[in-house]
Amino acid sequence: MQKLLLPFFLLIFLSFSTQTQTSFLFHHGHHDNDGHDSQSNKSHFVLVHGACLGAWSWYQVTTFLQTAGHKVTAVDMAAAGIDPTQPESLTSLTDYFQPLLNFTEALQADDKIVLVGHSLGGLGISMAMERFPEKISVAIFVTAAMPGPIIGFQSIEEQKTTLGMYKAFHKGDDTKSEVSKKPPRLFMFSEEELETKLFPLSPPQDLTLARTLVRPQAMFGLLESMKELRLSKENYGSVKRAFIISQNDKMTSKFMVWAMLLLNKPDRVEEVHGSDHMVMTSKPLELAQLLGTIAQDYAAFSSSTSSSTFVRDDL
Ligand SMILES: *[C@@H]1O[C@H](CO)[C@@H](O)[C@H](O)[C@H]1NC(C)=O
Ligand SMILES: *[C@@H]1O[C@H](CO)[C@@H](O)[C@H](O)[C@H]1NC(C)=O
Repeated sequence: MQKLLLPFFLLIFLSFSTQTQTSFLFHHGHHDNDGHDSQSNKSHFVLVHGACLGAWSWYQVTTFLQTAGHKVTAVDMAAAGIDPTQPESLTSLTDYFQPLLNFTEALQADDKIVLVGHSLGGLGISMAMERFPEKISVAIFVTAAMPGPIIGFQSIEEQKTTLGMYKAFHKGDDTKSEVSKKPPRLFMFSEEELETKLFPLSPPQDLTLARTLVRPQAMFGLLESMKELRLSKENYGSVKRAFIISQNDKMTSKFMVWAMLLLNKPDRVEEVHGSDHMVMTSKPLELAQLLGTIAQDYAAFSSSTSSSTFVRDDL
């Protein structure tokens, strides 16, 4: 069962949405300007970007959260954003997420964080949840990969279907890659994918910014990645989880979102309306308010009052 976990999630990033409108079983509402005022309740948000992106992709959400009085740390993963590492030098998913793992490990015991992952970043925050569950008050998956300890498929038929879809969409050779220490395969969004799949509802200047800043994404062998992504009920499962659906996300298929929510049910599901895959550029204020509300509801108050932003491994 575990074997099927990664294809399942990689599919999300490399598949095209069927654009079906699914009615979710979960309660969700509009999030316009009804965010709570959290002046006296400061949380420490740690923001993890998606594939090919960087800490820069959170620039607006970071600003809104800081303006609301929160502490925010947007971290560049290895070889992303302005991290000096070259993607070819990474050998594993853990290498890629190491900046986040190091940052989380170094936190003071009383500095509980609200961990937010976008897209591929969901795999990273899951790793951090497994290793440092006591340091995270709530983990928020923003239209992100959300693997879990018990994700499996009910029937052989489902497994076949999922693997078949995976093979059809994913043209790489991940399934047979077992040799470690070989250079990773690099993935990059095309100009057209950026415009039509990631940023279609975002302001054009954010698309321009992305075209300037995206970097190739290292992709690793499936078997190794699955081992690194082993999640337990005791650790990962002990952390509160929220999932934020992006209503008009053309990158993430509604079917996959629905399957993740059913197979690995989070504590809370919300939806941002009128947003594309880049919820942070298409609906930045709404997303920031929603993050603030969720943090407040899970009483994620940081004891620290200092403020920092856009850190790298030198923090
Ligand atoms: C801060 O949190 C407390 C306790 O959770 C809550 O009662 C209060 O309304 C919050 N204050 C603000 C300004 O959000
Ligand atoms: C993570 O921490 C280890 C041990 O302190 C260090 O050797 C390594 O360079 C750090 N890696 C990153 C990416 O920060």
